Amino acid sequence: MSLQLGDAAPNFTAETTDGTIDFHEYLGDAWGVLFSHPADFTPVCTTELGAVAKLKDEFAKRDTKVIAVSVDPLESHQRWIPDIEEVTGARLNFPLIADPERTVANLYGMIHPNASSTMTVRSVFVIGPDKKVKLTLTYPAATGRDFKEILRALRSLQLTAKHQVATPADWREGDEVIITAAVSNEEAATRFPGYTTVKPYLRKTAQPA
Ligand code: BEZ
Repeated sequence: MSLQLGDAAPNFTAETTDGTIDFHEYLGDAWGVLFSHPADFTPVCTTELGAVAKLKDEFAKRDTKVIAVSVDPLESHQRWIPDIEEVTGARLNFPLIADPERTVANLYGMIHPNASSTMTVRSVFVIGPDKKVKLTLTYPAATGRDFKEILRALRSLQLTAKHQVATPADWREGDEVIITAAVSNEEAATRFPGYTTVKPYLRKTAQPA
């Protein structure tokens, strides 16, 4: 069965463009985003890796480390890096795992045989500091991901993990949030002064600091 939310994120040791990495050690106490791309020297993947390199500071601001994987070998990754910079203007600034034996791809269920028996799909795993899977996304090879959406979702995960709140549809940083049902009205009045009740089951408050 594929990895599900709340499952332990499997550890592995792998060769990467930044040397050999123990995945859990690499993450330390930070949040993590592990994402797969189908193949080196392909157009969508080239744009995606450049896009993530440009957002590295945004991930760092959210105490999050990114790491990518493909089933191509390290030598191929190294030849491809200059292309990524030439095309996108961003130099790769996070590790890219070489997974020719498909160890990571199989551990994380990144190969979907009815899509392709050889390449990974575009998987995303957001992993919490407790090394549990908090969010997964799966896109097909021909559809590039919106990494700003991943940043937005990461921020929601971090807020909701800390404050007994949830984020509504299309929520953006600074928007109102929803108080979860686990918080009584009495407690809400203390913890979220000035909260509003739209319905007994839908109470809103300003985003906690
Ligand atoms: C791409 O990155 O453009 C791509 C990779 C594999 C299959 C199809 C597209």
